[in-house]
Amino acid sequence: MSRAAVLTGIGAMVPDRMVDNDEISTLVDTNDQWIRTRTGIERRYWADPGVSTGDLAVEAGRRALESAGVDSVDLVVMATSTPDQPMPATAPRVATDLGLGNIPGYDLSAACAGFIYGLHSATGAIASGSCERVLVIGADIWSTRLDPEDRATAIIFGDGAGAAVLRAGDPEEPGAFAGFDLGSDGAHKDLAVLPAGGSRQRSRGEPLREADNYLAMRGKEIFTHAVDRMAGSSTALLERIGWHTSDLDWFVGHQANARILNTVADVMHADRERVLLHLDRVGNTSAASIPLALTDAAADGRLQPGHRVLLTSFGGGLSWGSTALLWPDVAALAPAPRT
Ligand code: UT7
Repeated sequence: MSRAAVLTGIGAMVPDRMVDNDEISTLVDTNDQWIRTRTGIERRYWADPGVSTGDLAVEAGRRALESAGVDSVDLVVMATSTPDQPMPATAPRVATDLGLGNIPGYDLSAACAGFIYGLHSATGAIASGSCERVLVIGADIWSTRLDPEDRATAIIFGDGAGAAVLRAGDPEEPGAFAGFDLGSDGAHKDLAVLPAGGSRQRSRGEPLREADNYLAMRGKEIFTHAVDRMAGSSTALLERIGWHTSDLDWFVGHQANARILNTVADVMHADRERVLLHLDRVGNTSAASIPLALTDAAADGRLQPGHRVLLTSFGGGLSWGSTALLWPDVAALAPAPRT
């Protein structure tokens, strides 16, 4: 019998400060009605000064460990594009703050697809026999990297962290990841980019431009690629594991824009009712978006043990990835207020 990686705990959190669409419209030229109808987002949470991505990750990780009922893992994989600093990685500090001892921990950068990439890495570590249990965290703070002049990014991004504990188990049991489909396309690396701090920007030999500090996103083009890649990757995965779109109880896509997710569902001939939405309450939380959506739906009972769930994500890189599982019986706390 081969070893599978099985989801056994989940947790997520957002920072305290809620920023609604009316507040965004005091910062850039937009309004609540436009943001709701064009994105589905009603509010998001932004970290207060002094709070880092690692701080959010520690809390999400703590909740996932509690949900799994364990206090040790063999590895921490931290998916983020906004680490506490470029070096060292944030994962060792998260492991230490969680009291996990001198276990290995590393950061993984795949933008909004990072959590699925993290699940893939953890699954490999478990399948190889080198780990029994792995903590996978997706966390990002983009609010400090938003161009005050750019309404495309200001309206959608929120901060947050989500985490899952994976353990070795049986491929047939609920929670076992059924397979993965991952991909990337560096030809479109400039569609979503943060230039500051990298070797390309430093080796230009020119002073840092203010704009280099901010996330630049070509929204319309990203929208089209997001639909194509999430639909294509989801379809490829379903074929590989022998599931059909009509089998799915929940389609959990990266929470960037409700119109993207509904279009992916239409392309796949999936019922829009099966699209899990969480972005209305937290915005686009990048690497945290999938575990935040899952934790929220598990907490409010939409996700039930035995449900067939497809996860698919897309982000800068370009990077995308999909996986699927039968939802296990896991405890979850709501990550964000409901009202
Ligand atoms: O996390 C992974 C990476 N990111 C994404 O997946 C995001 C993908 N992109 C998007 O979600 C959308 O492209 C945005 C939400 C960023 C923009 O929505 P859009 O429907 O693509 O807007 P648009 O740029 O095509 O603009 C449509 C109209 C324009 O007006 P006219 O020329 O039709 O009169 C814009 O000037 O809406 C106007 N507009 C806005 N109006 C109010 C554009 N942005 C705004 C705004 N508020 N924030």
